[in-house]
Amino acid sequence: MSVQASPLPGIVHVAPSAGDVADAAASWLARRSEEARAEHGYFAVALSGGSTPRALYRRLTAEPYRDGLTWASWMVFYGDERAVPPGDGRSNHHMATESLLGHVPIPPERVFRMEAERPDREEAAREYASLLADSLPHGPGGAPRLHCVLLGLGENGHTASLFPGDPSLDVQRRWAVPSRADYEPYDRITLTFPVLNAAESVVFLVTGGSKGDALRGVVEGSVPAARVRPTAGLLTWFLDEAAAATVPAQP
Ligand code: 6PG
Repeated sequence: MSVQASPLPGIVHVAPSAGDVADAAASWLARRSEEARAEHGYFAVALSGGSTPRALYRRLTAEPYRDGLTWASWMVFYGDERAVPPGDGRSNHHMATESLLGHVPIPPERVFRMEAERPDREEAAREYASLLADSLPHGPGGAPRLHCVLLGLGENGHTASLFPGDPSLDVQRRWAVPSRADYEPYDRITLTFPVLNAAESVVFLVTGGSKGDALRGVVEGSVPAARVRPTAGLLTWFLDEAAAATVPAQP
């Protein structure tokens, strides 16, 4: 793993393979969680869906993290969720449970699922926003301030479930809203940019050459993920070499 100069905003770590990205990100997240626990008494993290973070989650279920982290101090939220039941294989909560939450001793009452499957997704989003507001301190702009937000990057430059052209991109005074994806499952709930940008740290996990257009879009400012710019927080990227090779040398 090496820190590389990059036109991407923030700090960019590059590792040879996707597995090395998972190893490096696990080490970083473990350290971050213990720092937050020491400073705040707990660690509030929003998990990402998608396939990339799965390897990170699985790495955290092995040593030195399984027995080395203070899992009871974790508060687990989600960056987004699909409108499917929690037992559906397409659910982000299902993936997180299978790869992490079912294997480490985080008390279930400290895992806060987005109930995107509810018929009234607007109500479910409002309730989730209230949960965030009631559970966390408020950061810049009054948004709930998470200690860490994990994000992936879609090939079209979406992140969480903030998709190109969707009205959710422009929401400023709400913390979680219904949104629509451009692939199945279409209906989602997503955190909004004010919450992402109020976080103490935001981490993108991006692997593979297929994300080149999206990464170039971040550099150019032309895709939703380009709007992730923590107001008073740290933005960090973990890329494998295949993804890093697609990033232009200059903006
Ligand atoms: C989701 C994620 C989504 C994901 C990207 C990248 O619910 O699918 O929140 O934003 O992070 O689509 O997905 P991969 O990591 O699978 O490429």
